[in-house]
Amino acid sequence: MKVVLGVSGGIAAYKACELLRLFTESGHEVRVVPTREALKFVGAPTWAALSGHPVSAEVWDDVHEVPHVRIGQRADLVVVAPATADVLARAAHGLAGDLLTNTLLTARCPVVFAPAMHTEMWQHPATVANVATLRERGSVVIDPAVGRLTGADTGPGRLPDPAEIFQVCLRVLRGRPRDLAGRRVVVSAGGTREAIDPVRYIGNRSSGLQGYALARTAAARGAEVTLVAANVNLPDPAGAKVVRVESTAELREAVLAACGDADVVVMAAAVADFRPETRHDAKIKKTDGEPEAIRLAKNPDILAELGERRRSARADRGVESPGVRPEVIVGFAAETHDVIANGQAKLARKGCDLLVVNQVGEGLAFGTPDNAATVLVAGGEAVEVPFGPKEDLAAAVWDLVAARLS
Ligand SMILES: Cc1cc2nc3c(=O)[nH]c(=O)nc-3n(C[C@H](O)[C@H](O)[C@H](O)COP(=O)(O)O)c2cc1C
Repeated sequence: MKVVLGVSGGIAAYKACELLRLFTESGHEVRVVPTREALKFVGAPTWAALSGHPVSAEVWDDVHEVPHVRIGQRADLVVVAPATADVLARAAHGLAGDLLTNTLLTARCPVVFAPAMHTEMWQHPATVANVATLRERGSVVIDPAVGRLTGADTGPGRLPDPAEIFQVCLRVLRGRPRDLAGRRVVVSAGGTREAIDPVRYIGNRSSGLQGYALARTAAARGAEVTLVAANVNLPDPAGAKVVRVESTAELREAVLAACGDADVVVMAAAVADFRPETRHDAKIKKTDGEPEAIRLAKNPDILAELGERRRSARADRGVESPGVRPEVIVGFAAETHDVIANGQAKLARKGCDLLVVNQVGEGLAFGTPDNAATVLVAGGEAVEVPFGPKEDLAAAVWDLVAARLS
């Protein structure tokens, strides 16, 4: 595919080098079109060497090739990363004072903007209006990540991780539907930890990769996503609101708070079934004698609680009311044996609509980029998702969810 990488004059311009590499290494032909200001951050030789194409910010170079028209016309995708407040404003108003804005006016392919700027600039009514205009016209504007900005400031305005921007672009290139637009979804990811004392905990091997893939895919399909992340060390998915938790009690609180007006809840986190009955305030000391046994207490079953709350809300209304939220509840079951039989029993017990059952064990599911699963659908159907990237399983889950929502 022919990709135009527009780079504008923000401090995050250097991160676009990584985005460029992700595109070229996956076989895309990339033409970099920086703004004049972007070239003050990263010079033309870097872009030319990494892309293998000439680089200019001006419409006046190689005029015989009419680059101000041709580059946009030939593109399969234009992605502007980072997109400054200035470039968003110029794009929203149709200005054409340099090669990048000319390209944006002549492109008829999908356009993705990845804004990065200080929080004040991002939240200014002028920028808010420009982003709304660009989205109304069909451009994908990725919400910036929250985190460290230039200097010591933090807040929304950080460029999402290049790998995240790349994933959004791939989905746009594949023409993923925006069938979750206007829907609110809550996804839990990672694995909870239950403290034994201030330094030790009982945990599990979940990396959060599958939950993050679900959140990222839902955001790309237009959903407003709240991601409740338990002990995950991954870049924030573009466009998702991330709530960080540690224990099962915190995860329960965050999920219940977020799911009040949610259409869909996907419980992909590996939630600890038990916690130490006592949490020691001081580190347990090593002694010469036998260590003290750790007694366990049962944790709340969040998935069953969500199902039960919905069942009783529906019963209160006296009908199987579609107005009761969440409309769709998705659970995950990690099983080491009798995978389908255990999954069927769990689906019936928990009152959820879909149950994604995967086999876990050595090299399976936990911490690996690939996964295979069976999605059990309340009412009988079982959908096999073959071994492949966790993004594919996420897409299959959202396909089934979207079908139930409509
Ligand atoms: C050190 C420095 C960092 C900057 N970082 C950003 C930024 O992250 N986002 C932004 O919108 N503007 C940033 N600016 C301001 C832009 O460079 C300025 O608005 C410029 O006119 C943008 O031009 P362009 O949109 O044509 O690239 C920064 C300026 C300086 C000097």
